[in-house]
Amino acid sequence: MRYNLSEINELIRNRRTIYPEQYTERVVQRDMLETILTNGLWAPTHGKTQPWRFKVYMGEGRVYLAEKMMKLYKSITPAKDFKEIKYNRIKDRIDRTSALVLLTMKRTPETRIPEMEEIEAVSCAAQNILLTAAAYGLGAYWSSPKFLYTEEAKAEFAMESEDRILGLLYFGYTKDKWPRSHRKPLEYVTEWIDG
Ligand SMILES: Cc1cc2nc3c(=O)[nH]c(=O)nc-3n(C[C@H](O)[C@H](O)[C@H](O)COP(=O)(O)O)c2cc1C
Repeated sequence: MRYNLSEINELIRNRRTIYPEQYTERVVQRDMLETILTNGLWAPTHGKTQPWRFKVYMGEGRVYLAEKMMKLYKSITPAKDFKEIKYNRIKDRIDRTSALVLLTMKRTPETRIPEMEEIEAVSCAAQNILLTAAAYGLGAYWSSPKFLYTEEAKAEFAMESEDRILGLLYFGYTKDKWPRSHRKPLEYVTEWIDG
C-alpha cells in the first residue's frame, strides 16, 4: 500500500456538503485555497486540455460576486416566479462565506475532445477540491442555481459562449457537528460480470 488507505477512505466517505448558514466567522486563508485549487489541477483531463478555470472571490471581491448573482437571478427569473426571499438569500449566503470559487470550463478551440469530457474533467477537479477542503476540516457547498447555466451568466463573468459555468463553490468552517450522510450500498448500483 503506497498511502494510508484507511485515512483516504475516511476522507472520501466523510466529505460533506456544508451550507453557509452553518459557517463560523473564521476566514478561509488564501494559502489554504491555493493548495485546495492546486489539487484540482491534478484531475484527469482527456488530451491534457486542462479545461478548469477558477474565479476566486474573497474579501471585497465578494461584493462583485453578490451583485452579479443577484442581477442574474433577477433578470433570468420570470416575474411570477421571483421570490424576494431567494433574492436576499443570495447576498446573505455570500456574506456568510469568506471564500467562494466559480467553477468553470474553458473549451479548447478546435479540440476533438467532446464537450462532455471537458465538463467531466472539471467535475473531477471539483471532487479533488472538495476532498482537499474536507481534509483541512473545511465545509464546502457546490451550488448550481439555474441562472448560472445561462448565456447571460457567461457574459456577466466575461466568458466565451462555448465555455460553461458548473457552479459556485462555498467554503467555510462549520460551527455545527460534522454532518453524517448515507449512500445506497454497492450491491444496488453494481453489476459484476465475472465469467
Ligand atoms: C453538480 C452538483 C450540483 C449541486 N448543486 C446543488 C445545489 O444547487 N444546491 C444544493 O443544495 N446542493 C447541491 N449539490 C450538493 C448536493 O446536494 C449534495 O452533494 C448531496 O446532498 C449529498 O450530500 P453530501 O455532499 O454531503 O454527500 C450539488 C452537487 C453536485 C455534484
